Amino acid sequence: MSESTPDTVVRTRRDGPVLVVAIDHPPVNALGQAVRAGLLAAIEQAGADAAVQALLIVGAGRTFIAGADIREFGKPPQPPALPDVCNRIEASGKIVIAAIHGPALGGGLEVALSAHYRLALPGARLGLPEVHLGLLPGAGGTQRAPRLMGVKAAAELMLSGRHLSAQDALAAGLVDRLADGADATAAGIAFASELLAAQTPVRRTRDIAIADRAAALAALDALAAETARQSRGLFSPLRIVDAVRAAVELPFDAGLARERALFVECLDSPQRAGLVHAFFAEREVAKIPEARAAAPRRVERIAVVGGGTMGAGIAVAALDAGLPVTMVERDAESIARGRANVAKVYDGLVAKGRLTADGKAAVLARYTPSTSYDDVRDADLVIEAVFEDIEVKKAVFRELDGVAKPGAVLATNTSYLDIDAIAAATARPQDVIGLHFFSPAHIMKLLEIVVPAKVGADVVATAFEFARRLRKTPVRAGVCDGFIGNRILAVYKQAADHLMEDGASPYEIDEAVRGFGFAMGPFQVTDLAGGDIGWATRKRRAATRDPKARYVEIADRICERGWFGQKTGRGFYLYPNGARTGQPDPEVLAIVDAERAKKGIVPRRFSADEIVRRYMAAMVNEGARVLEEGIALRPLDIDVTFLSGYGFPRWRGGPMKWADMQGLDKVLADIRAFAQEDPLFWQPAPLLEKLVAEGRSFDRLNRSA
Ligand code: CAA
Ligand code: NAI
Repeated sequence: MSESTPDTVVRTRRDGPVLVVAIDHPPVNALGQAVRAGLLAAIEQAGADAAVQALLIVGAGRTFIAGADIREFGKPPQPPALPDVCNRIEASGKIVIAAIHGPALGGGLEVALSAHYRLALPGARLGLPEVHLGLLPGAGGTQRAPRLMGVKAAAELMLSGRHLSAQDALAAGLVDRLADGADATAAGIAFASELLAAQTPVRRTRDIAIADRAAALAALDALAAETARQSRGLFSPLRIVDAVRAAVELPFDAGLARERALFVECLDSPQRAGLVHAFFAEREVAKIPEARAAAPRRVERIAVVGGGTMGAGIAVAALDAGLPVTMVERDAESIARGRANVAKVYDGLVAKGRLTADGKAAVLARYTPSTSYDDVRDADLVIEAVFEDIEVKKAVFRELDGVAKPGAVLATNTSYLDIDAIAAATARPQDVIGLHFFSPAHIMKLLEIVVPAKVGADVVATAFEFARRLRKTPVRAGVCDGFIGNRILAVYKQAADHLMEDGASPYEIDEAVRGFGFAMGPFQVTDLAGGDIGWATRKRRAATRDPKARYVEIADRICERGWFGQKTGRGFYLYPNGARTGQPDPEVLAIVDAERAKKGIVPRRFSADEIVRRYMAAMVNEGARVLEEGIALRPLDIDVTFLSGYGFPRWRGGPMKWADMQGLDKVLADIRAFAQEDPLFWQPAPLLEKLVAEGRSFDRLNRSA
């Protein structure tokens, strides 16, 4: 790859009186140091050249400018700084026009806002999404956007991180004009010529006065209150409101200085590090060896076997991606239920006004219910979602082997079972793979792609391509009991059970885990998913459980009473009259007390901090085992699994990133301390010990993979 220099990434050419400044820095024209230097040089060139009367800034490729170069965050800053570049653009004595044909995001939009006039083409998407990275717009965006679009609208744009279409940006006042087509340079030159012909003067955003400051401040107070309620410990949203407030209260330059100070606070926060890690990790997960080794097979028709909770959700996910889906069930009654499960999702959308009745009919026209395996004959991909029973699954795969066309991909949605054994039930193990969706399958982003020993690389590549079409986040996992997510979950769930038996109530544990940033605690999750599911797994594992391992029976006692959670009106919590939020249940606490007494355990108190440290140490330790066994390719695959499938707080970057940020030595020291009480459960993972001994982090493994 050739080195980026200012004159290769920012090219200038003159078109009559217009200096066309084209940013050409693939893949997304991020504002790395060379681009910033190139932009500054272009402004100086225009200033020095008497023949130039206007500057036109455009982006080459599909993007205008995607923003600051996120890879530079956390490294020593290199001049020129983006705010200085933006100020120089705005200060130009010759008119500057930005012609936007694609994403203009973050620093990219800030460059455009410092231009004097803005033109948007149909593909333009304008936004200030820094909040998603734990930041705020730090190159004048918090000062210029309110002047152009109004204080409240600008603050909302920054707090939501959403993108505006060209039309919406025009309506909001962020752009001056729309143009057709995709040629930003031609449209920009035409616009520039018109402005020059009319002798239009420069128009600096900084000079625009903010109207009705009292109303603006009142709107910001209301937004600040709402943000404080909703942002669940996030650092940057309230700073965004503060920075916008500075636009109202302070002169422009003082406002810029305030923005800078707040930006640096955000930049230095661990949340920024966690969120930027999440951004890149979600893109890295798709980079797997099989995708480099083989091309995906064509997938045009899908079949789903089983129309229960998961089969219906998977069918909806595929229908939503525009694919035709055949669903096979056991008998007429079951397929009627499967069809109803699918229709219910679309009925919900119609009821909410998000889909028309015709739209629903059009989607369902691609859906074919059936009770005959013969109807999977045309499918390129068959996804099995029948009962979680290895014999039932093997029988289904034997059937599929008999009818599916040669080259069809045969996938199982099993949560725990041995996919090598399922593949061995067919004469074509090279075509069998795991596609582990999460419930509700049409909503949850995570798709674990489970790779058995004999599967072909092209089948793995097909699964990743399928995930892309479904807009899912794919993570490659190896075969083991529970793959990446459920395997690790089983272990930290045990840590929670131990805490409960030793003295913390389930409600204290849930509260501590929510305090860490999870949307729900482990006992709330059990109640939501249905306690019977975990109970069945525990019974299945009973025969192979190490008799020396600690086993907490509290959940079994609860399930024995038929208390399976929300669906039965009580579980660990009470849900009177179908309530969705549970209330603590004194009878559950009595069961917990009785179980403690039975084992002679004298309950002790745990602080929220200790609860979290045990919960997280169990997660990280098992994560390290999953890594050393090759079940996960890299630590980042575990991070993405938990971010997109288990409600892990995104701003903490995932469990392995969290461990790195704590210091692996600290996590290991905790594990060793906990091992004093239960050496079997708290055996440190050898990989964790090795990394600590070598002074390395999980992130180093991400980079060396
Ligand atoms: N900096 C560095 N790399 C970036 C980048 C950025 N701002 N944005 C995207 N990339 C990289 C991606 O990591 C990816 O790299 P690989 O191919 O090596 O994986 C590549 O560009 C393509 O990105 P996508 O796969 O996401 O491509 P897409 O076409 O699906 O989406 C996009 C393009 C809409 C621009 C999307 O990448 C995106 O939303 N990027 C981030 C935009 C953003 O958050 N900007 C704000 C930055 S912060 C800022 O600007 C602060 C400030 O005020 C100074
Ligand atoms: P479910 O009980 O809701 O649905 C299973 C369906 O399979 C039933 O409709 C049944 O009639 C049908 N079925 C059984 N045998 C069949 C056969 N031989 N041919 C055709 N259809 C048959 O179960 P659910 O929850 O949908 O689970 C299905 C699979 O998905 C299981 O392997 C489960 O472990 C897995 N899974 C479940 C998740 C969940 O949260 N429910 C999450 C992720 C995976």
